[in-house]
Amino acid sequence: MPKRISLSPALEEKLLSAKKVVILSGAGVSSESGISTFRDKDGLWEKFKPEDLATPSAFQRNPQLVWEWYAYRRKKIQSVKPNPAHVAIAKMEKIFPEFLLVTQNIDNLHQKAGSRKLVELHGNINRNKCFTCEKISSDSKSDSKTVPPLCPCGGYLRPDVVWFGELLPEKALEPAQRASIEAELFFSVGTSALVYPAASLPFLAKEAGAFVVEINTGETEISPAVDELLLGKAGEILPVIVKFLKQNRKNKK
Ligand code: OAD
Repeated sequence: MPKRISLSPALEEKLLSAKKVVILSGAGVSSESGISTFRDKDGLWEKFKPEDLATPSAFQRNPQLVWEWYAYRRKKIQSVKPNPAHVAIAKMEKIFPEFLLVTQNIDNLHQKAGSRKLVELHGNINRNKCFTCEKISSDSKSDSKTVPPLCPCGGYLRPDVVWFGELLPEKALEPAQRASIEAELFFSVGTSALVYPAASLPFLAKEAGAFVVEINTGETEISPAVDELLLGKAGEILPVIVKFLKQNRKNKK
């Protein structure tokens, strides 16, 4: 039985008045869909060291191993559905006049749930790009091959995700930082807030005056700094927030 979720009067006031809202999401948002998070005990990477699979040098060393690992993850991701947390976030996009979802997830579940105003900080597992020339590949059949398919330039294709040691795409990071600075209300949901620069966004928002809310099953590095910590599952807490908004925030767009 989930425990009763109560929102503070300060958060309720912000939910009613805020026009500019940002949500930062992490692997915890997808955990209720059955995708393991990176750092939980049963994490996806428990049996593998990230540096053996998710770095440019790992790919150079063994492109087939890395390609097959991502093919396995793609298959798993294709078989799961968005959960109530994804659905609630997609609804919040329609309620606030200026909204941006900044996701660290590469699983495409936000998009499947209907989110459109979003930036992908760490890429998307459904896309490939060339390891050499970085051109995005539209060859969807390439997923079924066991060795990395080749780009017309002769380089290997790789998933279009950010690996350890790589820079985040500027076209995603720049709007994420701008929106965080401008936000009146900022949510950090299901992220351990350990991986920078994503983890700096709640602090950017807070320093610029936003009311910062964290939703997580446990406390994190950023918990001491937030205005409101809602401990529990994102799939249970976010629908409560959407219900409150729908009942109380009428014609306020
Ligand atoms: P993590 O696996 O580090 O953290 C997941 C967080 O979600 C933890 O703090 C959990 O307590 C929390 N959590 C788990 N289930 C939850 C639920 N049902 N509701 C709410 N919270 C829940 O995942 P990220 O923070 O997303 O980077 O990791 C960030 C990045 O680290 C990933 O994008 C990836 C990884 O290295 C790259 O691949 C570049």
